Amino acid sequence: MDKILIHGGHPLSGSIKVSGSKNSALPILAATLLSREPCVVHGVPDLSDTHYMLQILAHLGAQVERASGTVSVTADKVESVAPYDVVRKMRASVCVLGPLLGRCKEATVSLPGGCVIGDRPIDLHLTGFEALGAAVRVEGGDVKVFAPKLTGAVINLRGKFGPTVLGTDNVMMAAVLADGVTVIEGAAQEPEVVDLANFLNKMGAKIEGAGTRRVIIEGVPTLHGAEHTVIPDRIEAGTFLVAGAICGKAVTVKRVEPEHVRSVTDALTRCGFPIDIADHSISISPNGEAKALELITEPYPGFPTDMQAQMCALLSTSDGISVVTENIFPQRYMHVAELKRMGAQMQLEGATAVIQGVDRLLGAQVMASDLRASAALVLAGLKADGITEVSRVYHIDRGYEHLDEKLSELGAQIERVKG
Ligand code: EPU
Repeated sequence: MDKILIHGGHPLSGSIKVSGSKNSALPILAATLLSREPCVVHGVPDLSDTHYMLQILAHLGAQVERASGTVSVTADKVESVAPYDVVRKMRASVCVLGPLLGRCKEATVSLPGGCVIGDRPIDLHLTGFEALGAAVRVEGGDVKVFAPKLTGAVINLRGKFGPTVLGTDNVMMAAVLADGVTVIEGAAQEPEVVDLANFLNKMGAKIEGAGTRRVIIEGVPTLHGAEHTVIPDRIEAGTFLVAGAICGKAVTVKRVEPEHVRSVTDALTRCGFPIDIADHSISISPNGEAKALELITEPYPGFPTDMQAQMCALLSTSDGISVVTENIFPQRYMHVAELKRMGAQMQLEGATAVIQGVDRLLGAQVMASDLRASAALVLAGLKADGITEVSRVYHIDRGYEHLDEKLSELGAQIERVKG
């Protein structure tokens, strides 16, 4: 297993370009199953998660070609069964359920298990499918959905932790080929949902309201092929902005949609970092006396749960006491114990982390536990004195395209040790 070694304390400067969004690319690739015709998707990041998704599509019968960031998928024939061996590596594989149900009117997909960020139920996805007229059974670890016919309906997808991103995607993908009109109330408003709706509309779907709490889908009989470029990854952009905050001289993040990261730039501004926003780039300058912060994760446009760990790394050396509350995945704090090994002072009280800023972190051997927690450890390593060794970096490779190379370009002393 590869490791990443970071010699901390080397200031970052210069600019990096953000890759295509992982969380847009995954459902958009799944959506290609909805048409018999070729679809071309640009800006697909080179990540293990996108590779897994292409393996799933190939297993389901699609012809898949990948050249650099461009992926072509032709799904002229499709199987409706995705077994455990094929889907177990990635929780987001659940987003093939919607397109398979839409296209084949049946699907059997092995259920995703929990993961280190907590229980990951899909009850809201299934409620949505049932509302469209599907019968749902969970048997032997598989979820089976079947509908002689899908019929538009009014569906509320808001759960106890707020809206569901992949649930909204899944129901939208099933409903595009249903008879009649579907209204999703309590829909997720994340930019990735809007990107998927834009792609589906290019395929001939009739979706309105994506990006608001109410999405209206008028079913159509078939979809055709389409070409699309996925939006920039707002979480990668946010992670590089925090890198710039944690030990930057002057870092510019390019190919970013500033509106998509507004909650992150607002939080960094509140910490005292000067931020300069242009059309598609954001620059961050250092502040020797970064302030503590009170932060709550919320559905978009609130502060994203996917940036919580990285902010904890930053706040671990900010002046004063920060209070971070995780409202989406209350158990998403695996990074806390590892950051404490580097000298951070943090206490967990339920879903809240209380962080007393310290003057310095010390490099240590730490273990990546999930994607964003791993990024937090790398960021802490950039700041820490001495060497930080992050093991199990396959978590990082799931969701950050060439993170170590991009940080090297900014001047980080970071190397990957193959194992
Ligand atoms: N939830 C339910 N029932 C459901 C679905 C979700 O109770 O049927 C709960 C979840 O347990 C959670 C909340 O609703 O408390 C929101 O979960 P959501 O369904 O929105 O998460 P997701 O769609 O499975 C996507 C991203 C995650 C990101 C979350 C929240 C993808 C592939 N994944 O997951 O990204 O954290 O939305 O924004 O889009 C990551 O990239 O590191 C990552 C984990």
